[in-house]
Order: sequence, then C-alpha cells, then structure tokens
Amino acid sequence: MSKEQRITVTAALPYANGPIHIGHLAGVYVPADIFVRYQRSRGRDILFVCGSDEHGVPITLRAKKEGKNPQEIVDTYHKMISRSFEEFGISFDIYSRTSSPVHHQTASDFFTHLNNTGVFTEKTSEQYYDEKSQQFLADRYITGTCPNCGNENAYGDQCEKCGSSLSPEDLINPVSQLSGESPIRKETSHWYIPLDRYEDWLTKWIVEGHKDDWKVNVYGQCKSWIDQGLKPRAVTRDLDWGVKVPLEEAEGKVLYVWFDAPIGYISATKEWAEASGKDWEPYWKDENTRLLHFIGKDNIVFHCIIFPVMLKAHGGYILPENVPANEFMNLEGEKISTSRNWAVWLHEYLEEFPGKQDVLRYTLCANAPETKDNDFTWKDFQARNNNELGAILGNFVKRAIDFTTKNFEGKVPAQGMMKKPDLELEKIISEAPAKISQALEAYKFREALGLLIDVARSGNKFLADTEPWKVIKEDMDRAGHIMNLSIQCVANLAILADPFLPQSTEKMRQMIGQDELGWDEAGSLELVPEGRELGKSEVLFARIEDEDIEKQIEKLKKEDVEEEKPELKDEIVFDDFMKIEIRTGQILEAEKVEKSKKLIKITVDMGFEKRTILSGIAEHFEPGDLPGKQVSVVVNLAPRKMMGIESQGMILLAEDDEGKLVFVTPESEIDNGSVIR
Ligand code: MF3
Ligand code: ZN
Repeated sequence: MSKEQRITVTAALPYANGPIHIGHLAGVYVPADIFVRYQRSRGRDILFVCGSDEHGVPITLRAKKEGKNPQEIVDTYHKMISRSFEEFGISFDIYSRTSSPVHHQTASDFFTHLNNTGVFTEKTSEQYYDEKSQQFLADRYITGTCPNCGNENAYGDQCEKCGSSLSPEDLINPVSQLSGESPIRKETSHWYIPLDRYEDWLTKWIVEGHKDDWKVNVYGQCKSWIDQGLKPRAVTRDLDWGVKVPLEEAEGKVLYVWFDAPIGYISATKEWAEASGKDWEPYWKDENTRLLHFIGKDNIVFHCIIFPVMLKAHGGYILPENVPANEFMNLEGEKISTSRNWAVWLHEYLEEFPGKQDVLRYTLCANAPETKDNDFTWKDFQARNNNELGAILGNFVKRAIDFTTKNFEGKVPAQGMMKKPDLELEKIISEAPAKISQALEAYKFREALGLLIDVARSGNKFLADTEPWKVIKEDMDRAGHIMNLSIQCVANLAILADPFLPQSTEKMRQMIGQDELGWDEAGSLELVPEGRELGKSEVLFARIEDEDIEKQIEKLKKEDVEEEKPELKDEIVFDDFMKIEIRTGQILEAEKVEKSKKLIKITVDMGFEKRTILSGIAEHFEPGDLPGKQVSVVVNLAPRKMMGIESQGMILLAEDDEGKLVFVTPESEIDNGSVIR
C-alpha cells in the first residue's frame, strides 16, 4: 500500500424522503468517514462523494402522504440530511443531489450512450396498473407476499425481510399502495439492461476474482445472485418523477431510480471538480484509482452487479475495487423502523446531546454491524461514554495536561533517560500506527477503534506504573521526563483518534498547542517540543447519567406505543365472512385430556345438538370452573382429530398482548344455538 494512490470513495446516496437515523451512520457514513479521514491524513489523493437520492417511488409516496409535491419533499429533507452529516463531521468533499441539472444531464447521457451502442433491449409487456389512480405500479407502489419467504409486505422491487430482489410479477396477492386495490395488467414498453449477457463476465470478476478480498457477506450475496441466473432488468419506468428518458418515443417515462442514482456519484464528482478547478475523469477512469462503495447490505446487488454492469457496458470506467457493505444496526433489540418511529434520529440526538457527536460516532463504530446485524442500546451508549471514552481516553489526556500544568508551569518539560516502563510505552506507541492502519485498510473499523483505545489505556498504565505524583517529591527531572512522554502520547492519540473522533482531537490539539499532524508522523515520542506551552485542559467526555438515558428509553417506548398499529390480516369480502357459522352455546362438562398439557375436552349444548370440542386452554382454566359458561362456537369448521378424540367445532376466545384468555360470551343470556353475525 505504499505507492501513491488515488481513491474515490462513494457513500450510498440516502433517499431524501425523511431524516436520517443512527442506522444510516453506523452502516455507511461513519465507517466511510473514518476511512476517508485516515487516508487524507496519510496524504492520499482521496475523493469522498455523496448526495441525496431524490428520485424513485419512496419520494413520491412520501409526497403523497404529506400532501406535498415531490420537489418540496426533497428540498426539505435534502437540507435536513446534509445538515446532520455536517454536524456529525461526515467529511464529504461534496454532498450533491440527484435533482441537480448536472445529474440529469449525466444520467441522461449515460442512458443515451448505452442505447446508441445497442446495449439495451426494448420489450413490450403487461405490467400491473392501478385503474383508479391511472398509473403503472412500479417498485414500491406495489406490495404483496414475497414468494421466497412469505413476508406479506414485500415491495415490488425487494423483500426487506429476506433481502431478495423482486419484480412486481413475483408478488403473490399484489396490492396497489396508491389505492389499496388489486391492480389489473396493461401493456407498456421499456428498456432493459441484459444482465444475463454479463453472467460470465461477473463470474470471472466477482466469483473468481474477489473471493478472498471482498467481505464474506458481500461475496456471498453476489455469488448467490449469479448462481441463480440473471435476468434482463428494466431501466425505465412509467412515472412522472425522475430523469426523463431522452427519447421521443418515451413520453411519460423516466429512468429507473436505481439506474440514475449510482450515476449520481459521477455527477457529484463532476460538480466537485467544476467547483474546485479539478478534472473529474481520473477519479472514474484511471486504472490506478481505487473505487470503493460504502453501503448497507440492502444495496449490495445494485453496487456489485447492476452498476458495475452499467459501467462495463458503457466502457471507459473503472470498476469498484471493493464494496465494504455492512449489515444492519438494530435499536434496543428491534429492527429500526421509520414508520414505527423506532429510531434515534440524528437531528433529535443533536438537540438532546449537544456537542456529543463523537460519543455517538464512537458507540456506532464500536458496535459496527460489520459481519452481522448488531444492536444499539442506550445503556451501552452510556457505558461506552463513561467507561471507555471518559475513563480511559478523556481521563488520560486530562491527567497528563493537568499534572504538567500544575507542576511545570504549563510547559512541556525535558526528556531524560528512558527506563523500563518508558520503553514499554515507546514500543506501544511506535507500533500503533501500523497496526491501526492495517485494520483500517481491511475495513475492520471496530478492531481499529479497539487498538486506538488500547493506546490510551497504555497511557493510563504508564502513569500508574511510573507514579509521577510520588516521583516529583524526590526527582523533578524524572517526573518531567514522565510528563513529557505522557504529552507525546497525547499528541499521538490526537493523530490516531482523528479519523474516529474529529471533534475531540481538535480539543486535544488545542490542549497541547499542536497543529494537525499527518498519520505518518505518529509513532514518535518527539512530536511536541520541550518548552511548548500547553493550553487549558478540558473534560473531553462528560459523564452521561442514568436519567439522561432513561429519558431516551422512555421516549422510544412512548412513541412506539403511540405509533404501533396491529398487523391485520388481509381484507376479505362479505361473502367470505358469511361462510363462517358462529352460534352461542353453553358448556355442560369439561375434563382434561389425558397426556395432553394443553387440551380440555368440552361438551357444549348447542341447542339443536351437543358437541364435543377440544380447546387448548388447560394452562389457563380449571376444567371445574367451566360448566355453565355461555360461549361462542364456530360450528361449521371441519371436524379435527387430536389425541384420538374428534373435535367438532371451535370455541372463541379473546387473547391480549400478554396471552391472557377470556371467553367471548353473549352480553346477556340468550337461547343456545342463536346465530352470531
Ligand atoms: N437511496 C438508496 C437507499 O437508501 C441508495 C442509493 S445508492 C446509489 O437505499 F448508488 F444509488 F446512489
Ligand atoms: Zn422475502
């Protein structure tokens, strides 16, 4: 890795259909930013691009929900999202947006080039159409049951439960998200990119070529996609929001959002180059440029298969060297859900923990979902702040500064002879940069962060071993030497922690009166010259108290209760309901079924006859309490044999969230066998 290199880093363009939350930061932007800051610190020519993804159905659905037009929606959220990124120190060279003119031009030209060189196939087919809304139902406009995992809320383009990529035709029981009705089919024509023709090439490039250097989760998803066989994929849609298809015969059609959005990385690069007087092309076309896509796992196929095929088909572009995708971050044991408001929103965090951006960056990196889904909990957040950032890093820095300020007139004392604990510290500091680099270059951000904290831990251990507060009583020079080394350790930490905790390293540099140094200067005990005047010490990570996080947990739970709606079964028509015969009855006898934990055998007087019914309620009721009760019974259910006894119906019970059962009883006495409807 020693040769000078150019690196283009892209971070997934977030949809401008809502604010961003900790899941976004943890999966994509914190790791990408750490990587970029580190590479910049090594003096590498690295470009970090991102922007808002402003097209696609997520945007138009949101607009419909809020009763606004799509442009208003993206304007609002683009502003909000870009502010959150800025506040959290995500150091993009440019944060652009796909509604920009540069992007429309770039995406449009890209399509035209592929069309002119005969890459696409054009095909007319029947697609789902909502007659009421007079609109074709692409992507998220249509939901239904996933054919792979049975998830009833799969989208027309993807099932979020099992991650499989879908077409609307794959859905079982498709329903329009616009009208809630089942769609009809109607003819329309579209342009397709023939992914199938790139199977061999993808096999060589990914399956054979990146077996060892791509993350297991990424490689696995790609391989299974390719193994299943690829199909041509439509790159246009019948929608009115997006980049217009640049063909006369394509009136009323726009580019598929997943066709235009990744081109947004290129458009953003152009915009950045234009503004900074640079040339955009080497960042996308020079074979020596390392192209890296930071994304979440739901974006893998788009960045590893579809976009590369687009780039390859176009020609002249480089391909990603790596796609270090992360898994998902959960929150307090549950999947983050924007619709349920089960999320920690960045703009809210900023209000509630002002100035503590680094604490969140740290916690999210320490728990980064690198190889599997991981969990964010407020308790852990508090513990990371108090026990790691505060007790280890913050504490060491403050001790080093305060002791020197108090005893050496705030100036860095001279170094003297190196003794055993000094040499130990020297070894740790000199080895740390390479170790951390190695982890960072391998996209192992948690490991890198652990190694960083180890350095601060060694600083504390050094103070504990050398006891300058005792030594100073007899040997001022030796105490000065110890403090000099401690300050050198702080200076090293200021460099090594910079990619992870940019807010705090800024303060550390102020405390030691040091300008920003590059990564390659770390590892030395001669960073801060003798006599340097120190700045004022500061508490880097103030304690977070129980009540601070209890407030957050309560807020989460409260909003969850307000927002949560039960999942209801699919709608049925009146005739379906009328097929069910429910009548009142009265329990005559009840006894436990032998050898069964759950079943009670009940004899019910239905008025017109007696029925034997088995009910799985033995854990809830004593058989002796049942005779005499009036109940509701489904009487036309096909008989079913359990434990050798035939059950001739079903007694209705209501069950609450905790599993408590009560009988559904007529409100006042009525003849047995009365019809319920
Ligand atoms: N907006 C997409 C999402 O949030 C990501 C787009 S990434 C890009 O899942 F490559 F298309 F830009
Ligand atoms: Zn599924």
